Amino acid sequence: MRIAICPGSFDPVTLGHLDIIRRATPLFDQVIVAVTVNPNKTPTFSPEERLDFLRRCTRDIPNVVVDRCDGLLADYARSKGACALLKGLRAVTDFEYEFQMALINKKLNPELETMFMTTSSAYMYLSSSAVRQVAGYGGDISEFVPAQILQDVMGRFTSERSEEK
Ligand code: PNS
Repeated sequence: MRIAICPGSFDPVTLGHLDIIRRATPLFDQVIVAVTVNPNKTPTFSPEERLDFLRRCTRDIPNVVVDRCDGLLADYARSKGACALLKGLRAVTDFEYEFQMALINKKLNPELETMFMTTSSAYMYLSSSAVRQVAGYGGDISEFVPAQILQDVMGRFTSERSEEK
């Protein structure tokens, strides 16, 4: 079975992420969307919420599994028998960091190939941090995040703003 891992913090998942996940599914038998948990970062959404958001948005795609990854991706990929790490690239500015990570992951797990998929042009500008920023100011994020999670994402920021008052 050819398994790819699509990793990220997904804080929250955006339409850009979902586009990459959907386009990857015909290429592999299974795509594992791995929500990474970094103890040094304080995400807006808890790991459980991020997993739940992803499960709701990928429910209709049969060969997608959503899982949590607490350690190194290279080890996680080995434990799942995955052959590829799949990353989305928006612009050349993403490349240097991704290139470094790909080389490190290759050292840590030589059987794992990092593969890059270019984002659809419609989502070039999109990132989870931009979504958080727009939502934080009460802006419209309906064209940025999947409809299934829109209310929950907006709800978090609405309650944060009312607490600040
Ligand atoms: O969505 P993000 O935050 O841009 O994703 C970055 C991510 C999760 C892919 C990266 O931080 C990562 O690989 N984390 C897992 C820990 C790990 O394996 N680190 C070594 C990579 S060189």
